[in-house]
Parts: sequence; structure tokens; C-alpha cells
Amino acid sequence: MDTLLITQQDLKQIVARVGIHALMDGLLHSLERALQEFDETQTEVRKREGFLLEAPQPGVLEWMPVMRKGDSVTLKIVSYAPANPRRFGIPTIIANNSLYDVQTGHLRALVDGVLATALRTGAASAIASKYLAHPDSRVVGLVGCGAQAVTQLHALSRVFGIERVLAYDIDPDVQKSLPARVAFLGLEVLPAPLEVVEAQADILCTATSVEVGAGPVIRGTALKPHVHINAVGSDLPGKIELPLAVLERSLVCPDFLAQALVEGECQQLSPEKIGPHLVELAKEPARFQAWRQRGTVFDSTGFALEDQVVTEVLLQHALALGLGTVVQLENINGSALDPYGYVFPRPGLEVAA
Ligand SMILES: NC(=O)c1ccc[n+]([C@@H]2O[C@H](COP(=O)([O-])OP(=O)(O)OC[C@H]3O[C@@H](n4cnc5c(N)ncnc54)[C@H](O)[C@@H]3O)[C@@H](O)[C@H]2O)c1
Repeated sequence: MDTLLITQQDLKQIVARVGIHALMDGLLHSLERALQEFDETQTEVRKREGFLLEAPQPGVLEWMPVMRKGDSVTLKIVSYAPANPRRFGIPTIIANNSLYDVQTGHLRALVDGVLATALRTGAASAIASKYLAHPDSRVVGLVGCGAQAVTQLHALSRVFGIERVLAYDIDPDVQKSLPARVAFLGLEVLPAPLEVVEAQADILCTATSVEVGAGPVIRGTALKPHVHINAVGSDLPGKIELPLAVLERSLVCPDFLAQALVEGECQQLSPEKIGPHLVELAKEPARFQAWRQRGTVFDSTGFALEDQVVTEVLLQHALALGLGTVVQLENINGSALDPYGYVFPRPGLEVAA
């Protein structure tokens, strides 16, 4: 049985042939539809679990499962190692997404999860912002200018008429390098002090690697009354980006409540103070429309449904373009009853594969 591998080289071909904007637009469309059509009797999402990675590089390695009943399980294995960029020149978030057949357990496909995670995290924020942010939002503020900031801004730029971007990072080198990384968007992107970013943003994205116990990362005392915040970096117990006072005066919408209560901004709130989750927003946006004039927060911890959608979008592109490498990874192409059947042929027990 075949397994399709979609590698970094295949992704480069997909982007070259589909276009980076068309790729993001297609994902925005597919993810919004998946949220609107989400049916928990058909799709089972589990909250993630993981292991702590050891010092001197504290972080986590986690697994995020989702099952579409009768069809497939998508499982993302994702690590968060915030020292990676400085120590090894590789991303903080490293992941791979695998797709399994639910009848047999066979691995159908294995897809890079680094680009996939960045794409879907940006798309989720843009969709939440479409429902919660002021429709005339023109100024985007970025707090944390690393990898996720690129796709936060890209996805938002496909939904809003952004005129100006103000960006702050605690690391001056990262802050300085952002404009070049997002120059393909043709927006005015200015490094700015935190207080200026906070005061001028209509939409604020916090995507920082703040340490557990060191948050919040914004002060929240001079925000615009209608500001919408995509809080992306709060995804571990004790790791928060927003002050409690901001959460208390805002409509706080988690991507996945069960998970956000453990590791999102929602860990700071009692359940009755938490607003609708992303699926509820997508199904009934009109119910929450009045909030676009007021303060709102999207508590993004990372929802496995987003991984399912982006994995399938990338696979569809790869299949349409004839990309990917087919391998026989699993030792199942021999005899069902003989694990040595293929690898250790013996007289009288020849197998076809
Ligand atoms: N919600 C999701 O679905 C999701 C998905 C991917 C990543 N994340 C989280 O988003 C965050 C950013 O991920 P990334 O891949 O961009 O990491 P990254 O390492 O590329 O960038 C993080 C940046 O945050 C900066 N930073 C740290 N503390 C700061 C502070 N107090 N103020 C301003 N900047 C600060 C760092 O200097 C760094 O440049 C991480 O916490 C990650 O776990 C969430």
C-alpha cells in the first residue's frame, strides 16, 4: 500500500504553481466552510497532549489528533522549541501532519507541518477577525515578529484593507527583519515601540514565545475601544500574553474551549466569562456582530480541525499537480500473517509484492 510524502520541495512547487495568495485564499475558504459545517457527531477533535522537552532548550513535543468518522484520522506531531531560531537557525515550531485510514490504520500521507501550521494559524486568526474586528480596520499591530507573524499578516491582508502595520518584538534583530519578510504583501510595515503598537492597532496579533509565568506581553491600558486581539502565543499552562483586565472587558472567543481552558488565555477566566468558540462564531456570525464595535479577543491555542483542513488542502494541490513521492513505508506489502514475508523471502513462501 502506498504512502504519499509531501516534502518541502513539493511545497515549493505548490506555491510556485498555485501562488502564495491563491493558496491562502483557498485555505481561508476551506477552513471557514469546515468551521461552518462542523458536526461533532461526525468529527472528533481531541485536545493536545505532550512531553516537556528538556533544558537547556525548554519546550514541548505534542500530538494533536482529529478523526473524521468513517474516513480518516489526521495527527499532527508538533514541537515548540523557542531557542531553535537563535541556536540552530531553524523554526521554533516544527511539525509533521499524518493522515491515516480509519478502516485499516494505514498511513495514507505524511505532509510537512511547518508551513501547514503557519498557514492555518494565520487563516484562523483572519477568520476570527472577520467575525469580531471592526470591518474598517486599517492598522494591524504585531507583537512578536517571528514566523507566525508572517502568516498572521498575510491572512489578515486577504480579508481587510490594511493601510499600515506596526510591529514590535523584544528581540531587535527579529523586529528589524520583519519588513523584508512581509515585503511581498506591499504594505507599509514599521517597527515601533510596544506602546505605539498598542495605541494604534485596530487589530492586534500577539504571537510571542513569552516564557511560562513571564506574561502578559502587552499592557492593555491604551488600546482602541474596538480593538480585536488575536492572542496566538498562549498555548501552554501558565503561558499568557494578555492582562486579565483586557480579557475581562472583552468578548473572549477560544478556538477550542476544552484546550483553551488549560493552556490559552481562557485559563485566566472562569467559564461563565468566556464567549462563543470559533465554530459558534462561524455558524452564527450575525449574533455577535455588535461586538465588532467593541473589544474582542480570539484565544488561539491551535485547533486540530485546522490541521485536518490544511493537510487536505495541501494534499489536493499536490495530487492535482502530480507532486509528492509515493513510498511503501509500512511493511504490509507481503503476507498478512508473516512479517518476514517480504523482507526475508523463504522457499515456498514467495509473495507478490
Ligand atoms: N495558536 C496557534 O495555533 C499557534 C500556532 C503556532 C505557534 N503558536 C505560538 O505562537 C508563538 C509564536 O510562534 P512563532 O513560530 O512565531 O515563534 P518565533 O520564535 O518565530 O517568534 C516568537 C517571537 O516572539 C518574541 N517575543 C518573545 N517574548 C516577547 C515579548 N514579551 N514581547 C515581544 N516579543 C516577544 C521573540 O523574540 C520571537 O521573535 C509561540 O508561542 C507559539 O507556541 C501558536
